[in-house]
Amino acid sequence: MGKSRLEGKVALITGGARGMGASEAQLFIDEGAKVVISDVLDSVGQETAKRLSPDGSVCTFIHHDVTKEDDWASVVESVIKTHGQLDILVNNAGIFERGSVLDTTLPAFSRTMDINVTGVFLGMKAVAPHMVSRGKGSIINISSVAGLDGTPGFLAYGASKWAVRGMTKGVAKELAPFGIRVNSIHPGIIDTPMLQTFDEAGEGVREMVRTRIPLGYEAEPIHVARLALYLGSDDSAYSTGSEFVVDGGWSA
Ligand SMILES: NC(=O)c1ccc[n+]([C@@H]2O[C@H](COP(=O)([O-])OP(=O)(O)OC[C@H]3O[C@@H](n4cnc5c(N)ncnc54)[C@H](O)[C@@H]3O)[C@@H](O)[C@H]2O)c1
Repeated sequence: MGKSRLEGKVALITGGARGMGASEAQLFIDEGAKVVISDVLDSVGQETAKRLSPDGSVCTFIHHDVTKEDDWASVVESVIKTHGQLDILVNNAGIFERGSVLDTTLPAFSRTMDINVTGVFLGMKAVAPHMVSRGKGSIINISSVAGLDGTPGFLAYGASKWAVRGMTKGVAKELAPFGIRVNSIHPGIIDTPMLQTFDEAGEGVREMVRTRIPLGYEAEPIHVARLALYLGSDDSAYSTGSEFVVDGGWSA
């Protein structure tokens, strides 16, 4: 097919068992990368890796809870041991739980912050020394349109995605002198298992949300994957510390 924008690169995609992460893994492989997907969903993750690479040569799965620093150490060590390098980290793992300031409990708030914020912090911390030693690397943090404005009923999630956006900018400036780029992606409404929470919220919620999307439809994970491909590849060599929005016009 002649597509090789990631030839010779190795990527780690967290939360890659399904949804956007799995789509990114597929596209990265199509573009010549070797990919390790990590997740807490072991059997789904193993099936995805097998589907993307039946002989295990271009995609493998590894168990990984992004809230655990020890897991990060062993996952990054394993990627480097297997492939000799790590060029791209996609901090994609995340959870969404609906709740307003009135009904969000402290444990629910902490759970979201642990996975969506601490997970991203630990990821950047875990890969930075290796990337610094090589003088290159691309870190892609998945935020959300909920990290661009205030969204009612998204108290914890919104706080977490604003934090991701903020960390991205600070770390981008810290790591720029070492040739490492750090950017955030802000998806709008993407049709993944995460959207089930809209269906659970009641009949017609999805349709109501859809009316707010100027392009008139939810995106497929591949729409986000194509942006991640751009940020992971050298095509985006001059972009760091930036927000990249893929939302069908939602935030316009
Ligand atoms: N779907 C959307 O509309 C949408 C919009 C904006 C942003 N996002 C963000 O995109 C990212 C991917 O979400 P998705 O829509 O593909 O949802 P998803 O639920 O299909 O995928 C998220 C993955 O993260 C994994 N995960 C959860 N906790 C984890 C942990 N502690 N350690 C490791 N993995 C863990 C899950 O098991 C799952 O496989 C998330 O960060 C999400 O917040 C999604």
